[in-house]
Amino acid sequence: MLDPTDRVVMVSGAARGIGRATVERLLAAGFLVSAGVRDARGLRSDTRLLVHRYDAESLPSAQDWVGATLARFGRVQGLVNGAGINTIARVTDEDETALDQLWAVNVKGPMRLVRLVLPHLAACGDGRVINVASLSGKRVANENAGYALSKFALVALTHAIRREGWSAGVRASALCPGFVATDMTAGVTAVPRQDMTQPADLARLIETLLLLPSNAVVSELLVNCRLETML
Ligand SMILES: NC(=O)c1ccc[n+]([C@@H]2O[C@H](COP(=O)([O-])OP(=O)(O)OC[C@H]3O[C@@H](n4cnc5c(N)ncnc54)[C@H](OP(=O)(O)O)[C@@H]3O)[C@@H](O)[C@H]2O)c1
Repeated sequence: MLDPTDRVVMVSGAARGIGRATVERLLAAGFLVSAGVRDARGLRSDTRLLVHRYDAESLPSAQDWVGATLARFGRVQGLVNGAGINTIARVTDEDETALDQLWAVNVKGPMRLVRLVLPHLAACGDGRVINVASLSGKRVANENAGYALSKFALVALTHAIRREGWSAGVRASALCPGFVATDMTAGVTAVPRQDMTQPADLARLIETLLLLPSNAVVSELLVNCRLETML
């Protein structure tokens, strides 16, 4: 396993949900963390934590956040793409606004960040990218075609990063949970809240993915809170 101490990891979507649980877990484990947020409310201050504005729909915002991380810590060894949305875009919807937003936040945002940090991940020799995708990136289980399209694309991006970064020691993993007890599932009744996967348990998995050695990596990690046939 890699040593977490002083490894610098950027986490997007860090103010809430899975991203926030990840920041807390990584800080407790000894990482240095750069948290990308649109609103820093609720994040505790910590000498090992940089909190910086990041909006997944804005390239300058991504550039600023990466620049601020390098200015503060001098390196980046990990990136966790946790920011995401699940606005609804059905196949038959004529208005493409939701589809465009899903694509911008769930796909272009992560891809831009990877493009910006890949040279730094390669420079350290054992860089890691964790993309928080979804089981919706593995199968289509409801009418939100746009969300599934974006998550299938994020899984594809993960494999593209593996190919491009492998020789430089960069490893990428797609984390694919089902229902997680966060704001995103506030309206879900299909699974009782206490039976959903907890964000802290995903944070534990993300920490492990960040620390696995380069010859024992996981390309896709499917996480179930209920029985799904074949996944
Ligand atoms: N919850 C689930 O059941 C579930 C299951 C599978 C996969 N996932 C995926 O897990 C990831 C995290 O979701 P979550 O459950 O933690 O949801 P959440 O509690 O709703 O948090 C979403 C996070 O994404 C951030 N975000 C949204 N739009 C953004 C933008 N334009 N720029 C930057 N940040 C933005 C939010 O920031 P603000 O606080 O500023 O809004 C928030 O921090 C998402 O990619 C989601 O698709 C979730």
